[in-house]
Amino acid sequence: MFLNKSCQVAALLLCFWALNTGYPHKYFAEKVTALLGEDAVLPCSFEFPKGVPVPYIIQWHKKGIKIPIYIWYAGYPPHIGEGYDGRVSLTGQASLNLTDLQEHDQGTYTCIVNFFDRSPDQKRNGSLVHLFVHAPPHFSIKPPDVVYVNIGEKLALFCAAGGTPDPDITWYMDNIPLNEGSNIKINRGSLEIFKVRESHIGDYVCRARNSEGSIVANTKVIVAGPAVITVPPRNLTKLEGDKAELICEAKALPANLTHRWLFNDKDISQLTWLVTRTVVRTDGTLFINPTSAEDSGLYTCEVFNGIGTPERASAYLSVEYPARVTYSPTIQYLPLGLSGIIRCYVKANPPFLHIKWSKDNRPFDPKSHHGVFSLSNGSLQIQRVIHEHQGWYVCTPYNAYGTTGKSNKMEVLVRDPPIFTIKPEERYQQRVNSKVTMPCHGTGQPKPDIHWRRTDGKQLSRDRAIQSNGNLTIRTLKKEDHGRYECVLQNDIAILVTSTLLIVEGTTPHAPTNVTVETSAFSASLSWLPAYDGNYPQSYVIWYRLLEQAESPWRTIRVDPDEASTFTIYNLQPNSEYEFRVLSRNTLGDGMFSPTVRGKTTPWDFLGGVYPTDAYGATYIPTVQKPSGPKPSPPRNVTVQETENGLLISWLPPLNQKVPVAFYYVEYRTQSKPWKRWGPIKHATSYLAKELAPGHYNFRVYAYSIMSVGQASSEVSLTLAAESYEVTKSRAITAGVVGGILFFIAAIVLSVCAVKICNKRKRRKAEKAYMMVTCPVAEARNGGHSHGGSPSPIKKRKRANEDGGTLASDHRPDQKAEYQV
Ligand SMILES: *[C@@H]1O[C@H](CO)[C@@H](O)[C@H](O)[C@H]1NC(C)=O
Ligand SMILES: *[C@@H]1O[C@H](CO)[C@@H](O)[C@H](O)[C@H]1NC(C)=O
Ligand SMILES: *[C@@H]1O[C@H](CO)[C@@H](O)[C@H](O)[C@H]1NC(C)=O
Ligand SMILES: *[C@@H]1O[C@H](CO)[C@@H](O)[C@H](O)[C@H]1NC(C)=O
Ligand SMILES: *[C@@H]1O[C@H](CO)[C@@H](O)[C@H](O)[C@H]1NC(C)=O
Ligand SMILES: *[C@@H]1O[C@H](CO)[C@@H](O)[C@H](O)[C@H]1NC(C)=O
Ligand SMILES: *[C@@H]1O[C@H](CO)[C@@H](O)[C@H](O)[C@H]1NC(C)=O
Ligand SMILES: *[C@@H]1O[C@H](CO)[C@@H](O)[C@H](O)[C@H]1NC(C)=O
Repeated sequence: MFLNKSCQVAALLLCFWALNTGYPHKYFAEKVTALLGEDAVLPCSFEFPKGVPVPYIIQWHKKGIKIPIYIWYAGYPPHIGEGYDGRVSLTGQASLNLTDLQEHDQGTYTCIVNFFDRSPDQKRNGSLVHLFVHAPPHFSIKPPDVVYVNIGEKLALFCAAGGTPDPDITWYMDNIPLNEGSNIKINRGSLEIFKVRESHIGDYVCRARNSEGSIVANTKVIVAGPAVITVPPRNLTKLEGDKAELICEAKALPANLTHRWLFNDKDISQLTWLVTRTVVRTDGTLFINPTSAEDSGLYTCEVFNGIGTPERASAYLSVEYPARVTYSPTIQYLPLGLSGIIRCYVKANPPFLHIKWSKDNRPFDPKSHHGVFSLSNGSLQIQRVIHEHQGWYVCTPYNAYGTTGKSNKMEVLVRDPPIFTIKPEERYQQRVNSKVTMPCHGTGQPKPDIHWRRTDGKQLSRDRAIQSNGNLTIRTLKKEDHGRYECVLQNDIAILVTSTLLIVEGTTPHAPTNVTVETSAFSASLSWLPAYDGNYPQSYVIWYRLLEQAESPWRTIRVDPDEASTFTIYNLQPNSEYEFRVLSRNTLGDGMFSPTVRGKTTPWDFLGGVYPTDAYGATYIPTVQKPSGPKPSPPRNVTVQETENGLLISWLPPLNQKVPVAFYYVEYRTQSKPWKRWGPIKHATSYLAKELAPGHYNFRVYAYSIMSVGQASSEVSLTLAAESYEVTKSRAITAGVVGGILFFIAAIVLSVCAVKICNKRKRRKAEKAYMMVTCPVAEARNGGHSHGGSPSPIKKRKRANEDGGTLASDHRPDQKAEYQV
């Protein structure tokens, strides 16, 4: 019934609506604003034509929806559009009460009132309403309450909010608004600090605000800290069976700590015999209940919160118990005529104090038996076994807690030991690639086992060494077969050992051993023990390098055989770590490197320092790679004077002599060409420059200490006129100069080539690198350095002349160690 009626009405109304397509124009649009979830009244009113009430129909349209959302006609249930069920009703004359507002309700609404008996030209009544649905802000992304950062790292806090109108997001730090900058970026609400500094640590607020309200989210930014153990475990002593508690309190930011316990460096969770008796409390404390004798050991607690490296703290747990016998062998043998041991297997904590012995049911006091001693592990040692030592023995150990009992009865039998019937000779000397047989044989009751081993613990060659019936045969002897060998004869009664030396001749020498190094500021003295030389005289090559520079190249020095086993390297850098190794060689070639040892040169006494001395006690100027220490003051009053023999440059020593001057360099140049220099000039404050071409020159003087260089003196200049030299002399000089220059160019080209070749070779593999030793350059004479520096002798010496007025001579202290070409 009712349904039928409403259907009719709906059809009727739709008819009406269809007739009245189009919106009323020229309505004055009203604006209505309401909050999300609340109610809004969309106003609409009308007047009857001429004030006379007539039937009418009300339609509410929403822009964008074809069918009216609400149609009212007196006496009929209203039509309600989809999605408006229970949310629309009329209020007042024709106003619409829209409840439980949703965001999509925002839009333009039109109210149309039609009178049934109107004339076509009559104006329609109604209204036009804009509805705004506002919402206060709400966070869609909220930053966390606490954020941990490391100084220097990036911090990103994400914050986003919804609401109508769109809320604005502002960031505050410690209540001060944050602005964008080079280090801070704020992008769609999110805050990024690229490099966190101390000043960025604090309380941050993200505020979202629109016309309907404002909300905030607080974030504390805290410097993250690795876990730190505040109360470490302490050494603990417990009686077996008691419970033990090992504390490990720690703090950290963030505090999400994990604790891990290790027993003797193994994770306890892996130790099934222990883990079942342990509990780790949330505060990190380790409980062991009950303790057992084998729990004694080192306990390590490790804490970690994911930041930095885990921290560890350790303590010892000592579980004490009465002394006990762990094992009683039923039979023990003693070798007649040799020394023997009657064993008592004891375990005790604290250690046992004494052990009571009985033999054949009578107390047996070792002290009252000649040649019988108690060993520190509880066993009895018999110096020389006789038949009377045979019998039934029982041992009972005691410590501070007493004893848990005695051992079972152990039968001790005295028997003849095995004997060697054939022993190897004392030494075998064989050439490489030959074969050696070292015989060994023995008998005994029970039948002894016989085998060979190397004294140094290395394995016998698998394919070349054959043991047969006690004999050891090694085929195609190699260098590594050289060494001491032992033949072992063994049965239950005794183990007998005899040894022999196998010398393998005709090989490269064996690696030197026991390399030690002693250092001073500029030198290092190496000593080593020569190993077997392969039956040819051996010599050595010392390899050394500076450790502080990454991959710094090895330098090598050859040592003459007569200087063997100690050698001093000069002209090292002070206060620097070096690596050394010794290579032996004989006519057959290079042996092996000794183990590498390290040594650090001592610091140089800057102020009191005297020149270092070389192997002959001659002083030299060391080559300093990294100048350091106090600098001398500059030389004063530099003068240049033309004399008969050339230009005389003189100066006064620095006024302040606190830093001693070791030598000077005079620098000169024409126009603005690079500076060239003369020196080092020792024990003099003048320099005679002989062969200078005419021109305008500048001069300056530097004072050097052994480790550093001071500032330049003030410059003086001088113009050298061509006519100041006689023509003939000038020619001679020119010839000399040209000759000299050619010589130097040739020398430089040669050495550059050589250095290049050397460098190329250096890059090759290690064995090949050794070839550089034979490179024909004076690069690595003892003390020499590729940087062109070298110790220049100061005292007059056989082969090193004082450089009177020529360029610094390149003589070095001529130590015996030289490159072999
Ligand atoms: C409403 O209709 C009446 C009668 O037709 C007319 O007088 C009046 O002006 C209309 N009002 C509006 C707002 O159009
Ligand atoms: C609108 O409708 C709601 C729910 O029916 C009612 O609580 C509210 O009073 C109405 N508002 C007006 C102005 O009629
Ligand atoms: C703990 O015991 C070990 C070994 O017994 C010892 O070296 C260490 O000094 C002891 N530590 C403390 C704090 O007593
Ligand atoms: C602890 O929390 C920090 C930061 O939240 C995280 O980086 C770390 O991995 C966590 N550590 C552990 C052990 O869970
Ligand atoms: C006691 O020490 C001796 C000598 O060091 C050893 O031969 C013996 O095996 C040890 N005894 C036990 C039970 O370990
Ligand atoms: C072991 O060497 C000895 C002496 O050289 C020899 O008499 C004996 O036959 C060798 N035994 C075997 C099994 O080779
Ligand atoms: C050489 O070194 C070994 C092992 O380091 C040592 O046992 C030996 O006593 C040393 N020899 C000398 C003579 O220093
Ligand atoms: C060095 O020069 C200074 C100033 O230029 C001058 O006072 C002083 O007398 C000179 N000393 C000597 C010894 O010439």
